[in-house]
Amino acid sequence: MIAIGSDHGGFELKEHIKRHLAERGLEVKDYGTHSEESVDYPDCAAPVCKAVLSGEAERGILICGTGIGISIAANKFDGIRAALCSDVYSALMAKQHNDANILCLGGRVTGRELAFMIADTWLDAEFLGGRHAARIEKIHDIEKQ
Ligand code: RB5
Repeated sequence: MIAIGSDHGGFELKEHIKRHLAERGLEVKDYGTHSEESVDYPDCAAPVCKAVLSGEAERGILICGTGIGISIAANKFDGIRAALCSDVYSALMAKQHNDANILCLGGRVTGRELAFMIADTWLDAEFLGGRHAARIEKIHDIEKQ
């Protein structure tokens, strides 16, 4: 299952991504927000991060206006590697090299079709492990400090 969430700035893109992923046959759970009424992005990041950390969701997608605030908030969770991507190459690397378990997008930055390509690329990619795994371990070491 893929957990998805946004604030009001990412609401419209979230709805499009949700539909796109469902059309691909993927199971998606929407953790809100459910309208364009103003909300605070840390509150929107938390339930998606918790779903990923608990194993309820395999991966998460978070969207705010720029993707910046919601990625900063998500990365405060121990074990979350949230990658803000606005291009396809970064989306591929985010999984292959960084094993990002959350993809962040900017609803006011990235157009719908590009966002679909970014999400598809990240979802279809696999972590390469090896030297990259050792680097992720170093991130875990920092989290323990
Ligand atoms: C909300 O106006 C906006 O600040 C938020 O969506 C996000 O862009 C913050 O980083």
